[in-house]
Amino acid sequence: MEEETRLLPPDREGLAEAARLLAEGRLVAFPTETVYGLGGDARNDRAVAAVFDAKGRPRFNPLIVHLPSLEAARKIAVFDATAERLASAFWPGPLTLVLPVRPEAGLSPLVTAGLDTVAVRVPAHPVARALLEAFGGPLAGPSANPSGKVSPTRPAHVLSGLSGRIAAVVDGGDCAVGVESTIVGLAEGPVLLRPGGIPAEAIEACLGGPLPTGGHAEKPSAPGQLASHYAPSARVRLGADTPKQGEVWLGFGHDALEADLNLSPTGDLVEAAANLFHYLREADALAGEGGAIAVSPIPEKGLGRAINDRLRRAAAPRPAA
Ligand code: TXA
Ligand code: MG
Repeated sequence: MEEETRLLPPDREGLAEAARLLAEGRLVAFPTETVYGLGGDARNDRAVAAVFDAKGRPRFNPLIVHLPSLEAARKIAVFDATAERLASAFWPGPLTLVLPVRPEAGLSPLVTAGLDTVAVRVPAHPVARALLEAFGGPLAGPSANPSGKVSPTRPAHVLSGLSGRIAAVVDGGDCAVGVESTIVGLAEGPVLLRPGGIPAEAIEACLGGPLPTGGHAEKPSAPGQLASHYAPSARVRLGADTPKQGEVWLGFGHDALEADLNLSPTGDLVEAAANLFHYLREADALAGEGGAIAVSPIPEKGLGRAINDRLRRAAAPRPAA
């Protein structure tokens, strides 16, 4: 869907307009001290699906959730003593912490890619902070560039990649740091998941101990990459034009109006992505113990690629328990 992308000034009116657009579920790019982020309401399934769609991401990687303060971050993630220590040393600033998510926070499961952890960060850029205050909620914010392209550090970079695909860009001039935030996972002792704006040495000095590197694609610390990670307990059959006896039918499009659940009766891939994690859970519950789910074919284009990636994992052979 093409739309006119507006460049908003970082003053009171521009920020109020950006906050209004975000509350409507629209996408607004915003400056941070690292790179420009592509903001969408992290509680709104449609908005988060639209973030993946605008970037053309081929899979649902978990996204970083941006918050105005440590206090706000504590409402969506569980902080242990180490997390508190790192947050008070480096926030606001270019550090992201991966922590257990609070289910009651109401985040879209697309933001966490269905994981039970969430990446949180409190940015230092005054315009990002002012926008987060004005919006008053958690913002998903991957870098504001098409998937596979260089991260943007100026409004012009954002526009050259995403013009016509997002509602607005808040103009905050050039980003000072220019590389993404450092990501530290704290699930089983601190690990460096991505090097970035804060040197690992500074984090080690704060921790008073080493910060091993972790989180490679094949390792369990990046579970979204594991082939069968997303598996529901029911068996999953893909590319099903009609269900077999006893299967729960998870449909898509007009040809599946009789389905038990339909990801998008009109065949809208953004709507289907927004519904995907919720409907897989529901289908799993409907299928019951030892049951099976049949899923309609999903076109391999746009967000359909990310949906199919996720479905293939759901259908992948399970490791023996
Ligand atoms: O500097 C930055 O961090 C920029 C600016 C805009 O704030 N944002 C950014 O966001 O780089 P994003 O969403 O592109 O970063 C996602 C990274 C990925 O490497 C992803 O694997 C990791 O965060 N990540 C997010 N949630 C995770 C989780 N629950 N477990 C492990 N890794 C996670
Ligand atoms: Mg990026």
